[in-house]
Amino acid sequence: MDLVDEINKRKSSGLYRVRKIVDFSKGSIATIENEQYINFSSNDYLGLADNIVLKETMIGAVEEYGVGGKSSQLVTGYLKPHRILEEGLAKFLKRDAALVFSSGYLANLAIASVLINKTTIILQDKLNHASLIDAAQLSVGSLVRYRHGDTNHLKILMEKYKKYNLVVMTDAVFSMDGDFAPIVEIAKLCKEYNAVLIVDDAHGIGVLGETGAGLLELKKLDQSQVPLLIGTFGKSFGGSGAFISGNSLFIDAFIQKARTYIYTTAISSSLAVTMTKAIELVINATEERECLYRLTEFYKKSMRKVNLNSNESMSHIQPYMVGNANKATRLSESLYRDKLLVIAIRPPTVSKNTSRLRISFTAIHDKDQVARLVNCIKNNLDDE
Ligand SMILES: Cc1ncc(COP(=O)(O)O)c(C=O)c1O
Repeated sequence: MDLVDEINKRKSSGLYRVRKIVDFSKGSIATIENEQYINFSSNDYLGLADNIVLKETMIGAVEEYGVGGKSSQLVTGYLKPHRILEEGLAKFLKRDAALVFSSGYLANLAIASVLINKTTIILQDKLNHASLIDAAQLSVGSLVRYRHGDTNHLKILMEKYKKYNLVVMTDAVFSMDGDFAPIVEIAKLCKEYNAVLIVDDAHGIGVLGETGAGLLELKKLDQSQVPLLIGTFGKSFGGSGAFISGNSLFIDAFIQKARTYIYTTAISSSLAVTMTKAIELVINATEERECLYRLTEFYKKSMRKVNLNSNESMSHIQPYMVGNANKATRLSESLYRDKLLVIAIRPPTVSKNTSRLRISFTAIHDKDQVARLVNCIKNNLDDE
């Protein structure tokens, strides 16, 4: 099929992607063509992207270190701020060491060149984020997927492939569904079958656990049970970039072998200084975490009141399932006319017939905004 056909087909099946130009985004409000929209599609869960302390920290660090990353970390792009950030992350996540990447996508891809050889079977939850799946597909190992959240299926596959080197990769909080991986059971199975467990908690770190260290803190799993923990600065930390944390041997192996660490420009020192400060803010964000919990509960209760399904997700990510891609796009467009920004998520990001609105709450939303969202969803569905 040529590109024109392919694009036309996407248009006719509601899968064509259009980028909205946001003029300005502050707090929970995005300004687009001079109109203000309540943004329910942001991953700035704790509202740190606009935090005054972080902004001042970054401005000060730019004065000292400049703007760019200047080279790869293995050349001259690894400065004291990077080292301090790694140490801060390791302490925060209670791991031996941490390594900073330019994005979460690159951190996950690193797995392919470090931990996987031709005899590796990479077992992955069916609903894992694309970056985990790509890591396996770009590696020399073989990807085998288990049914979403189904530890019985995982066990069957582990038994079947027990003669191979086993690696298990899972989202902790699923990015499009908002539910939690059955991580305690997965960790137990990994011990039993001697599999390396890699958990990506991009969406849970900052939001879950007493100090915001994520689902593993909430479920009391340490480095001996989950040897590698991945997170990103692009969500609760209000910045960009990412990290892998774990024991020193693993981290050293990544420094030596990870192509997406070695062959790319370092995050800037000014961002490293800012993200170090963000760790402190994340740890102290108890009120913000409580606020997120309250807003989510309020949303679920309000949806139930108007007889709408609010799904099983316990987290701040709440999918409103629509099914058909065109229908999901239409609902998103209706909400946009009501001045609500709620992006429709369609295949291939999610499976066929599971198109949805991915609603994400942040600590800078309030109850009135959530009530308005529920009313508008209800009214637009009634009008369909
Ligand atoms: C689970 C998960 N991992 C990794 C990423 C990628 O992180 P980054 O945006 O830092 O590349 C995302 C992004 O949405 C994600 O949801």
